[in-house]
Amino acid sequence: MLELHNIDMFFGGIAALHDIKFRVDDGSLTGIIGPNGAGKTTIFNIITGVYTPTAGSVIFNGYDITNMKAYQINRLGIARTFQNLRLFARSSVLENVMTAAQNRYVNSYREEIFSGNMTQKISPNLSSWYSFVESCLHLGRWSRIEKTLKFSSMQLLERVGLHDRANQAAGTLPYGMQRRLEIARALALEPKLLLLDEPAAGMNPEEVFELNDLITGIHKDFNLTVLVIEHHMDLIMKICPRIICLNFGAKIAEGTSEEIHNNPEVLEAYLGG
Ligand SMILES: Nc1ncnc2c1ncn2[C@@H]1O[C@H](COP(=O)(O)OP(=O)(O)OP(=O)(O)O)[C@@H](O)[C@H]1O
Ligand SMILES: [Mg+2]
Repeated sequence: MLELHNIDMFFGGIAALHDIKFRVDDGSLTGIIGPNGAGKTTIFNIITGVYTPTAGSVIFNGYDITNMKAYQINRLGIARTFQNLRLFARSSVLENVMTAAQNRYVNSYREEIFSGNMTQKISPNLSSWYSFVESCLHLGRWSRIEKTLKFSSMQLLERVGLHDRANQAAGTLPYGMQRRLEIARALALEPKLLLLDEPAAGMNPEEVFELNDLITGIHKDFNLTVLVIEHHMDLIMKICPRIICLNFGAKIAEGTSEEIHNNPEVLEAYLGG
């Protein structure tokens, strides 16, 4: 599903990544570990089009996405969560998910138009298919669409255990719940590949335990391919059958959790770090 070929990423003269290559199989759940500054988030930024790598290529489902823009890559079916949360703090929990669901809806509508499936020539501009008045008054087509999106967003909130918080401002949620909300938002984009950047950061042990269940659950139920960055080895080893370890911008190991656990270079990277 995803292939990274010989990726180099330089910031000024500094190499954040050097000669990174790996494959992620369709339907897999893969972990990326490594000490601070190892280059983990930079890999996600390259996959999602935030950065264009200095060298190398990224292939997703047969498409070369190396030079694509973030929104194009997102439309191909890659969604992510951020290490530093990016929620709309003052909007409600439900609105946060609905915004993503709306984006997904509009994008799929546009794709339909551009792929020529629609006989009528309709502008991809949102206001041309439901009138401004309708949207203001919550009438007609928009009202029906909104109802559907609200329903699906509530289902996602239920899936991540936040349905009883739907009307609360996102910024007032405890930290662990905000991380779950980010996952719900990413799921609302209906991705094929989900990238989670340190989803357990700032969580207490009980929350981490529940998060493990959530990640393995959505991986299965949503037929997702998942790549998860985690700083803590013990957490990732429990849920990821395959793990990639980075250190100083290079891949130093790849294998099963047992292989990684017994790899002297990995141990050295962690003990030294
Ligand atoms: N936009 C940037 N400009 C300059 N240097 C950057 C930039 N982004 C990342 N780096 C550098 O690249 C290296 C890898 O950073 P990255 O954030 O990928 O590490 P990480 O493995 O995610 O670390 P952490 O565990 O702390 O999140 C670091 O030295 C970082 O300072
Ligand atoms: Mg990081």
